[in-house]
Amino acid sequence: MRITYRNANNKDYWTKRWDDIPADAPMENPEVYPLKYAQMTVTDKIGKTLEAGCGAGRILRYYHDRGYDIIGIDFIDVAISKLKEIDPSLQAEVGDITNLRFSDQSFKYVLAFGLYHNLEHGLDKAIRETHRVLEKDGLVCASFRADNIQTRLTDWLANRKAKNKNGEGKGRSFHKMNLTRSEYEQLFTRSGFTIDFVGPVENMPILYKFAIFRSSGHKNFDENKARMEGYRLSCFGQKLQNFLMHYFPDQFCNIYVLIARKI
Ligand SMILES: C[S@@+](CC[C@H](N)C(=O)[O-])C[C@H]1O[C@@H](n2cnc3c(N)ncnc32)[C@H](O)[C@@H]1O
Repeated sequence: MRITYRNANNKDYWTKRWDDIPADAPMENPEVYPLKYAQMTVTDKIGKTLEAGCGAGRILRYYHDRGYDIIGIDFIDVAISKLKEIDPSLQAEVGDITNLRFSDQSFKYVLAFGLYHNLEHGLDKAIRETHRVLEKDGLVCASFRADNIQTRLTDWLANRKAKNKNGEGKGRSFHKMNLTRSEYEQLFTRSGFTIDFVGPVENMPILYKFAIFRSSGHKNFDENKARMEGYRLSCFGQKLQNFLMHYFPDQFCNIYVLIARKI
């Protein structure tokens, strides 16, 4: 386990991030994270889905538009108000994964992409809450920041950028938690889940941080576009990334995606 520190604390980071961009359009590309993994999980239209930590709403809107019974929660007010504004028919509300208002066994599926690693306190409580609101045999699909070379490099680059910008080096506020694959599996098994799938995934490859490796349509960074289409690399950048992921997947992924079942 490794903790990433930055200058802004986690809640301020997400407030600023969702304040800065409009609500997402529904995600388009089913070949990439996170939609690819949501589709491996939500296989039945019957039954309710909770998207915990729905953020700007790309997954929530995708399933809502297709007639799924899905509700999104997030602890950042501005993210929820932007979603309600863009589509008042969405079920979206402010909520905290460590203390859900839903009764036991309310959901068949819980999607939680990039959520749990934001918790400095109450990580086990959040997993127990997830377990509580799932029905028996229900599935959770969740991603978590990996503790490896890629995230260490990302953190080093972020600290260097902060130092160049305002003279402040390594931040002191909790930003995110990083876990190895086995630490991530144990987090779920000790709360009563069995693991159906766990794998290394490149959400945002480190090469994407350098414009030279991005695809032509992504040279100028547009977060909404990248969130909708996936973080697309140039042909050369993709080949290099494929090489790294083929030979060193656990070191050059930036997240682990896990699908676990309530037994
Ligand atoms: C990486 S974003 C993912 C957004 C969305 N799931 C997606 O994949 O596009 C993680 C989200 O978790 C939310 N979050 C962090 N801590 C939370 C908590 N304790 N309860 C609910 N949401 C939280 C953040 O505000 C942020 O929107």
